[in-house]
Amino acid sequence: MIIKNGNTFHLVGKSISYIMTVGRCGDLLHYYFGKKMANKDYSDRIMDKEYGLLTCVDDYCFLETLPYEYPAYGYADLRDPAYIVGNLDGNTVSRLIYKDYAIVENEVTHIDGMPYIFAGKQKPDTLKITLADDIIGLEVVLSYTVFEEYDVILRSAEIINRTEGDMNIESAYSASIDFDKGCYDLVYFPGAWTREREFTRTEIKLGEKIDISNARGGSGHAMNPFVMLCGKDATERNGDVYGFSLIYSGNHSSVAECDQYGNVRVRQGINPFGFDWILESGESFYTPQCVLCYSADGFGGISREMHDLYRNNLCKSKWAGIDRPILINNWEGTYFDFTEEKLLNIAKAAKPLGIEMFVLDDGWFGKRDNDRCSLGDWFVNEKKLPSGIKGLAEKMNAEGLKFGLWFEPEMVNPDSELYRVHPDWAISVPDRVPAKGRHQYMLDLANDEVCDYVIKSVADILREANVEYVKWDYNRMMTDMPCKGYNHRYTLGLYKVMEALIAEFPDVLFEGCASGGGRFDPGMLAYSPQIWTSDNSDAVSRLKIQYSTSVCYPMSTISAHVTASPNHQVGRVTSLKTRADVACAGVFGYELDITKLPEEELEEIKEQIKFVNKIRTLTRTGDLYRLQSPYEGNYCSWQVVSKDKSEVLLFACRILSPANSKEANIYLDGLEPAADYIDTETNEVWGGDELMYKGITPVYENCDFATIVKLFKRV
Ligand code: GLA
Repeated sequence: MIIKNGNTFHLVGKSISYIMTVGRCGDLLHYYFGKKMANKDYSDRIMDKEYGLLTCVDDYCFLETLPYEYPAYGYADLRDPAYIVGNLDGNTVSRLIYKDYAIVENEVTHIDGMPYIFAGKQKPDTLKITLADDIIGLEVVLSYTVFEEYDVILRSAEIINRTEGDMNIESAYSASIDFDKGCYDLVYFPGAWTREREFTRTEIKLGEKIDISNARGGSGHAMNPFVMLCGKDATERNGDVYGFSLIYSGNHSSVAECDQYGNVRVRQGINPFGFDWILESGESFYTPQCVLCYSADGFGGISREMHDLYRNNLCKSKWAGIDRPILINNWEGTYFDFTEEKLLNIAKAAKPLGIEMFVLDDGWFGKRDNDRCSLGDWFVNEKKLPSGIKGLAEKMNAEGLKFGLWFEPEMVNPDSELYRVHPDWAISVPDRVPAKGRHQYMLDLANDEVCDYVIKSVADILREANVEYVKWDYNRMMTDMPCKGYNHRYTLGLYKVMEALIAEFPDVLFEGCASGGGRFDPGMLAYSPQIWTSDNSDAVSRLKIQYSTSVCYPMSTISAHVTASPNHQVGRVTSLKTRADVACAGVFGYELDITKLPEEELEEIKEQIKFVNKIRTLTRTGDLYRLQSPYEGNYCSWQVVSKDKSEVLLFACRILSPANSKEANIYLDGLEPAADYIDTETNEVWGGDELMYKGITPVYENCDFATIVKLFKRV
């Protein structure tokens, strides 16, 4: 619901309020974001009292500490701005004044050419506020969407050039909020290849600016476009937390800045570093959408809100709303060394275990036997696969399995037929040999002709063969950008390619990937309902990676496979049980050569798959509660509760086996206190209150990496 009361705009969500006012000098100001408040006219609440050495205009208002909704730099506010435009006079001074508003019911702002949150079955209302700087001919339309069912606000900005000439956008964030409570921490998710998204919390000190940004091309392993601002006392279960998630796959930036008086400004949007956009007369520039989320129930509360939103309103694929097939991928099983016969042998062994799909990974095209050649040549390597992809898919189908295929369509190896014909299609600058990453260049998706080639090369195969799943990989970061702002042009090209393929192949399940989780962001999730979370498939490393990924992203997006032991990335030996129990916390699959496993392990896999079949709807749709953090000690546990609270899945892991110690109790969450729950394995009956308040003391096997998985049903 959106209410206009005097000069106040009040956006009311499920249990939140977001309140803005138009100040007495016409600036749009932020008043409040948090727990729901009464509908009142808050217009005169924001004080422009003079204190310190503040800038002002005339003798009264417009002071530097005002909480602007879309702040500018260089007129009165001296903190970092939400936007910078260069104007015809050659300066960047600007001030936006409120002009107008419109409320659109049952609608979300559709952002042309970019992924965005759609209305779905929910009831969103959108407020559009027009601000203008008439002196420089700039107009900005700020969009705010609020849902009756969620505690989120969607924000984006449209920047319009109302001059006769060009305008240069140097920076355009999607959202900026000024918080005035003081004493905040920032949680963010830095990482690296095989160490993605480490849960990191830091205090925002007075005068400090914390810049959580990435300029590596894709959203990146190094920093995820999701941050949380929280009170000092916020925990997993309690406390005020604000989430900021950017629906974008290119260079991003989230900045938290604490001014000299303790006010904290948080901005999120496209990274202004390396960005520049010439806006012609009358043209608009659209920022990506930013999701703002508030919860009084700690990080867990934020997660459950974000999960519902991203499960229901982000990905239009039919697969977003159904259980995914249990797959076997050949990558860690064979790497590049396979023949049709070898693949079919794996498939023959997989089917009786209950596996539903075979995915052929890298190495099936051109003359690719290693990672030095053939990207760009999307025709089958007949030496390895004499029946072609069509023939192989038919054979897989005849074994009773669906068939999926790996592509890395945004890339080209210098040693490829494509590059020999079209060296000009690789991203490069004049007179400089482009830098290689994994022996490959990136294709120039800012060029429509290249996008058409990429679409055609994937589509031709999907038209010809019964490929029901595509793993869309992206294995290097961007260099040699031909101009400022190139990264955004590329990202728009990528979205165009994805839109075209999704539209033509609505039944194909797309899985995103970027050397593991190097582009795990809501932009890619709009096209691929699941993403390969990390190239690190070690169960113990995955405890942390999946734990922290789940803070923003639902389990239905987190692809997780059981691989061989010793693990190929870290050399760790873990039991098949531990590996499967950890992989249950995501979109479950296998990635090892099962033809080499002993009979007992094959029997164990059969049982694992039976169990996954019982729980996969629950993990895809239920509410996640993280109970013990692997970042804080020797345990990791989490729990999923069905929306009707009738089913509960509990996972717990004790990482190292201690001698002569008492186990930490696990306190479940989100159950019906008065209901009884039966442990479906032991038939023990527990009270919901008992599981939550008294807790249970788990009994682990006497070994390292011991795991427990329990399924409870309400009696
Ligand atoms: C990336 C992916 C892996 C695999 C390889 C193939 O590293 O993350 O899963 O597909 O590429 O080259």
